Amino acid sequence: MKITKFFSTVVLLALLGTVSCSCPSSQSSDSRADDIEARIDDVMSKMTLHEKIGVIHAQSKFSSAGVPRLGIPELWCTDGPHGIRPEVLWDDWNQAGWTNDSCVAFPALTCLAATWNQELGLLYGKSIGEEARYRNKAVLLGPGVNICRTPLNGRSFEYLGEDPYLSGRMAVGYVKGVQSNGVAVCVKHYALNNNEVDRYTTNAIADERTLREIYLPAFKAAVVEGGAWSIMGGYNLFRGQHACHNDYLMNKILKGEWGFDGAVISDWGGTQSTEEAIFNSLDLEYGTWTDGLKMGLTNAYDNYYMARPYEKLIEEGKVGTKELDDKVRRVLRLIFRTTGDKNRPFGSLCSDEHYAAAQKIGEEGIVLLKNEGLLPLDLEKTKKIAVVGENAIKMMTVGGGSSSLKVQHEISPLDGLKKRLAGKAEVVYARGYVGDASGEYNGVTTGQDLSDNRPASVILAEAVKVAAESDVVIFIGGLNKADHMDAEGSDRLEYSLPYGQNEVIEALLAANKNLIVVNISGNAVAMPWADKVPTIVQDWYLGSEAGTSLASVLTGDVNPSGHLPMTWYASLEQNGAHALGAYPGVKRNDGSDITDLEYKEGVFVGYRYVEKNNLKPLFPFGHGLSYTTFEVDNAKIKTSGSGDSFKATVTVDVTNTGKVEGAEVVQLYVSDLECSVERPVKELKGFAKVNLKAGEKQTLSFALDSEALKFYDEKEGWKAEAGKFDVLLGVSSADIRQTVSFDYK
Ligand code: BGC
Repeated sequence: MKITKFFSTVVLLALLGTVSCSCPSSQSSDSRADDIEARIDDVMSKMTLHEKIGVIHAQSKFSSAGVPRLGIPELWCTDGPHGIRPEVLWDDWNQAGWTNDSCVAFPALTCLAATWNQELGLLYGKSIGEEARYRNKAVLLGPGVNICRTPLNGRSFEYLGEDPYLSGRMAVGYVKGVQSNGVAVCVKHYALNNNEVDRYTTNAIADERTLREIYLPAFKAAVVEGGAWSIMGGYNLFRGQHACHNDYLMNKILKGEWGFDGAVISDWGGTQSTEEAIFNSLDLEYGTWTDGLKMGLTNAYDNYYMARPYEKLIEEGKVGTKELDDKVRRVLRLIFRTTGDKNRPFGSLCSDEHYAAAQKIGEEGIVLLKNEGLLPLDLEKTKKIAVVGENAIKMMTVGGGSSSLKVQHEISPLDGLKKRLAGKAEVVYARGYVGDASGEYNGVTTGQDLSDNRPASVILAEAVKVAAESDVVIFIGGLNKADHMDAEGSDRLEYSLPYGQNEVIEALLAANKNLIVVNISGNAVAMPWADKVPTIVQDWYLGSEAGTSLASVLTGDVNPSGHLPMTWYASLEQNGAHALGAYPGVKRNDGSDITDLEYKEGVFVGYRYVEKNNLKPLFPFGHGLSYTTFEVDNAKIKTSGSGDSFKATVTVDVTNTGKVEGAEVVQLYVSDLECSVERPVKELKGFAKVNLKAGEKQTLSFALDSEALKFYDEKEGWKAEAGKFDVLLGVSSADIRQTVSFDYK
């Protein structure tokens, strides 16, 4: 399967704005916007109060009402963000029992971030958007862009890593790709929803600089550059007020500063107050149990905070209709941009192109962490391969919470390897350990029976024997989206690998030193054996083509080019939130159930903390190896202007100095050498992925402006101070190959 030439060139370039294309509509966006506003005016002039109230809250688990009398369609949402969720019952999370709702699972968003390839952000969005459109959804609940503050966060796999710039760049492509189908994204979970433990009651307290520099940029990029049509308020509180109707986040920043013209949707059950919802910009309420009684009532939807209680306040003259009209206008805009767009394309489901996209994103996101020569597999010499570990066989698309899917197919790592190696090498499998044998989420089952009641010692002994008899051993383990293992609603309980996997790895190593460890997770994990194991690969949750992508990389059909979107700490103490005791917060002593969580590490998140404290992580942010080698040299900088008209062009040569074709990610960091406040040692401000044949050289060019130099000053806002700056170019945050300097005035 190959991505068609048409698809990869014309459509992606059109989305990037470099060629014109007839999708989704040839009408100019300005005149389309005017049309939409005129249609909204017309509809609003005919709507009754009751009809207006009717469109701003849910009518089922995933839909809100339209105005049938006026031909305004219902609004249908779907999770998100890795595939289109199967249909659930009207008022129940259980399966509706449809047989036409299986989808392609795309790799988890951490993998997308690990590709460091912005075109793949677009391809991802375009492909998943087509699936959403085919399933007739107006809103896709994703992407998730919360920053990976701690590796214990259960939902990091749904996000784009620890760096605000990288997350923002990848999110913009996703947003544009999805919305080119006439399907809205819903960027989540705005904002500072960085852990799952106590997720409904955590009060995140971050200072203004931390908020602006770390936690908001990816949301801002998705809204301002991506043009997101909706955004989801988080469950948590921010500075004492619930995020879904937080005056500061919603009124001041999102709708005020960023000029967001879309709809704010509550997370499912995130609304807590009618009054705050009215005045603090919540536009659409979803998932509330009832009127706060935490129990289902008959006709629960009428008791939503933004249903009857709001209508009553208006009828009694206690609040006016100005806020309501603004909400209705935004919801109608969302409908007219999506379901109500006559030129909306039709979408497609489970197409060859979507599988090819999933496979490619998976292949480009896999990170080769360490390689002492075992990869790519030498199929001349390797005749027998032992594959050990539960994750080699476990279906990973079911589980993990709301991103759980019902897939048309999922290729496991073992099946992918067996298929690729058929006729080349014998593949023998042993489980090694038993982790999570379940395989069900909300009524979707994997159909796998992973129960194994043999004693652990017997299961391990079998694996050790198989390992000893093989030429190479591939251990495939990690986490698995069970509770506390990368899942919504719970954080991990420890940084270590669970189920005794460290002992299994040690035992395999003692039996056969030719050991490759493939870790599957959406988060960093402790690897106490890392210096002894010769080859380590980070595989993420790769979706439908998981095994195909992994087999391509292990055999060298595809040269690995993924780089870490998060720091791989040697231990949790290297992470600022943990080192400073700022996770998971302190429960209040006042009878409330609030947990105050102060972001004590401030802007020093991920590599910013590690570098400030001169720590040596196991693998640094941005790290990723290849089967070839690259030289990065001849960096030059040209600057012009001063203050806000400052511009710089940085050029650098990249050469593939090895024997095979491959892609390298060149990362550009900016370091402010003279500043009145303590800044991170350096910050990512640009990157480019370049594919080169053996011996080929290319010159890359990066444009910088004063925005790339700024920090957030509590009093003055964004500001760059005059002085010396370095621009560092490298292939990881710890492998800087070139430095150029300039003076900023
Ligand atoms: C999750 C959201 C999800 C929603 C609908 C919530 O519990 O936090 O991410 O989109 O449910 O399933």
